[in-house]
Order: sequence, then structure tokens, then C-alpha cells
Amino acid sequence: MTSSGKHYYQEQFRPQLHFSPPSGWMNDPNGLVYYRGQYHLFYQHHPFGTRVSTMHWGHAVSSDLIQWTHLPIALYPDQIGAIWSGSVVVDADNSSGLVPNGGLVAMFSYDNQSQGIAYSRDEGQTWTMYAGNPVIPSPGRDFRDPKVCWHAPTSCWIMILAAQHEVHFYASPNLLTWTFLSAFGRDYGAHGSVWECPDLFPLKVEGSDVSKWVITVSIIKNGVAGGSGTQYFIGEFDGETFIPDSAPETTLWLDYGPDNYAAVTWNNVPDGRRLLIGWMNNWDYGQEVPTSTWRGAMTLPRVLKLRNVEGMGLRLVQTPVKALHNDRVNRQQWQDQVISDTVKLIDGTPLKAVEIKAELQLDSAREFGIRLRLDEQQQISIGYDAANARLFLDRRAAEHKSFHDTFPGIYYAPLHAKDGWLRLDIVIDWSSLEIFAGDGDVVMTAQIFPEKPISGLELYTVDGTVRATNVELYQLGSVWRDPLSTE
Ligand code: FRU
Repeated sequence: MTSSGKHYYQEQFRPQLHFSPPSGWMNDPNGLVYYRGQYHLFYQHHPFGTRVSTMHWGHAVSSDLIQWTHLPIALYPDQIGAIWSGSVVVDADNSSGLVPNGGLVAMFSYDNQSQGIAYSRDEGQTWTMYAGNPVIPSPGRDFRDPKVCWHAPTSCWIMILAAQHEVHFYASPNLLTWTFLSAFGRDYGAHGSVWECPDLFPLKVEGSDVSKWVITVSIIKNGVAGGSGTQYFIGEFDGETFIPDSAPETTLWLDYGPDNYAAVTWNNVPDGRRLLIGWMNNWDYGQEVPTSTWRGAMTLPRVLKLRNVEGMGLRLVQTPVKALHNDRVNRQQWQDQVISDTVKLIDGTPLKAVEIKAELQLDSAREFGIRLRLDEQQQISIGYDAANARLFLDRRAAEHKSFHDTFPGIYYAPLHAKDGWLRLDIVIDWSSLEIFAGDGDVVMTAQIFPEKPISGLELYTVDGTVRATNVELYQLGSVWRDPLSTE
């Protein structure tokens, strides 16, 4: 199992800037809440093995969303069952009667699909199961992942939860008794197996005073990149019913890569920012990924905005949280180069945890992009197909042995080059790659398991030239320090 000392968080493929559990299995982020200076991250966790089994809520806290401190497991299975996904709210006025001076209340699903409550009177350090659980009985079919928020206009707690192929809304004055309000989604968006892990939140449209309501919801199969994926809807919510702006057949994808599932947002963030994190994995192969003492990592936490994206319409856009930049340890820069065929920028330097920022001005090239080279034969490509206005990520040529036949793949996202420019912000963290393209208009998240570390960086074109006006490469440090180390 994970050791302490100098090998702490140094195993092969261990992310250096992303959250991963100390050991054991992890899937969905749960209970995301900001409270008294700390961002809490709970997560679906099986501490005794690296595959899905009896779920607990693991727990960590951070003051900046990048540097995490592991805390003891928060919720253990009880006589009703294992603890599946859910959320946490700040019950400041003790509406529940469970937290006399104000505190945290968690609402989660049991594995039997009933809904339970737990509470903490000490800022999330220790948790007590509510004696009256379950607060909503199981209907005997998929019915789970409650996300609760305070809805000020109606002075009610509102819960959204996944019920087979749709989401259901409930209201409560006290978090204990819940009244069904309405359902949404059976005829909308993408379906494939059941819907899971919904979220509901308001968000201002960038540069205006208009506020919309957003629902995010994950699907196990039939995601845009194959297997699991997360879609979203933009519309109006009046405290009872959600009315989408889009037609039933429209599907909006949160992330065009294969590895961002069950993404949800933090409650109670003070400055109005809407912050999201997802499980950086895919149920198609998630239990097979070739890590050792642990399995599962989160995406980078991201700031969400609603933006009118040129040529596309109103979209949810994402950028990594700023604290990531604290871990930049050095910078290399290349400016004003005309690229034709292949230009090597780095050759022979390990690029395990790096951020690459590139500004590329379109010219005659039909296709162009960045290649991350593992050796002569192996590479990962991030490219732009100018003729079809789409970004792509190709991880097919990046490993000798595939651990699962659905893992190798090429993934596409529609992307208009704004005024003839392509801007890319790419974060590589040993076993993951996140692309924020066009100032976050389009995002792709993918795991990579290269047997050799990436050691080359190239710019390339197909049939013509492109101008690389600015390329920056930052080596990133590690946020993991051995808690037992005295250094
Ligand atoms: C999503 C999910 C949730 C469920 C949890 C169980 O990945 O299937 O619907 O609550 O995982 O671990």
C-alpha cells in the first residue's frame, strides 16, 4: 500500500497536481462545499481495494483547491447500506434541528437507492448518521445522487436527483421531509443506460446581468467520446420546474474527452464563482486502469462560466483554477515561428507534469497541432482540423500494451478558430491530459498511461504552414508532500 517517506505519492502514474486517494478505489466527487475557509472534497471510496466495492465517503480539504490535505473517512456504511453519491449544504440557521449552532448536513444515497442524511457540528471533522434515515425510501429502481442547494426565491431547500432516465426535483423546509416537485429529461439530451449525478445551479451570462439555470447530468454509456460522459442543459428554473432553452434533440457536452464523469459543483462558494470537479475516468475501463496502490483521480478543479461562444451559442466554458499557477517552477518560451511539417521544441527532457500554452495563427495548413513524443514511434497528438473546424486529441499511439480495448481512441470537439487564432492551454500530469481550447470554450480531458514518460514536444503541420506566435512551457511541481516528513 502507499508508503510514507520519500516515496510518498511517487508511484508510477501518480498525479502530482490532481487529487487522488492515498490508496484504494475512488470514483465520484461528493459533498463539495466551501465552509469557513476550506473547500471540502468528499469522494466515493472503497479503502480496502482498487475496484468498486462497498462505498464510503473519503474526505480531503484545501484552501486553494490544488493543495489537498487528506482527512479520515467521513461516512462509513451502516445498517442500511453502503454510502453512494450525494452532496453537503451549510445549514447555517439549523433548519434541520441537527446542527444547533449551524453546521454541515450531507444528503446521500444508500446503495439500496433510499436517501439518507448525516450531519457534522465540528466543521466536517466528524459525522453522525441521522437516526431517522432513510428520509426518502427506495422506489426499488435507480434513484440516487441527491444534490441539494438553497433556493432563495422560494426559501426552500431544493434537491435534484437522478431517477432512471430523468432527473427529479424535490423541495424541503428542513432537509428531512421532502416533497416531489417535477421531473425533467426523459425526452431531452443524450441517454444510454441511466442518468447519474445531476447538479442544478444558477449562473450569470458572462458580460451581462442575465442569470440562467444549468443542469449537469452524467450518463454511463453513450457519452460524446464513447462510454461515460457528462452533458448539460441551460434554461429556467422557478423553484418547481425546469424549462430548457434547447430543443429536445440538442445535447450539450461538458467535456469532449473520455475521462470526465460525475462532474458536480461546490456549494456555498463566497465570491459567486461556480467551481466544478469531475472523476477523471470512464466506467468503460475505469476499474482496469494500470495504477497500483490506488485507482482514480479527479480532474483539475475548474471555474465555470456561461458564455455566448461565437458560432455556437450559449455554452458552459471552463478554465482551471488559478492556484495551479503557484506550482509553475520554470518557463521556456518560443515566439514567432512559422511551422511547416515538424519543428522540435523539446527533445529528450521528461515532461511529466507540465503546462503548455500555445497561440497559433491559422494559415495554409489543413491540419496542425502539438505532438507529445514518447519515443520515435509513440506519441500523443493534439491537433486542429481546420477544414472541419474541430479540435482533436489522439491517444491511440501512446502505449505498448492496451489494458482495455476501448481505451485507445481519437476524440473530436467542434471549435471555431476565433479570428483565425487557436489558443490552447494544456495541462499534463503524468497520467492525464486536459486541454482548455479557445479560452475554455471547449475542454477535453483524457487519461494517458505512457510506459515511457513524454520527453519530446513538437509542433507540426499537414499540407501548409501555421504561425506559432507564442508557445510557453511550464514545468509544474508537486502538491504532495509527505505528512510524516519533517523536511
Ligand atoms: C456514478 C455512480 C453514482 C453512484 C456511485 C456509486 O459514478 O454510479 O450514480 O451513486 O457511482 O459509487
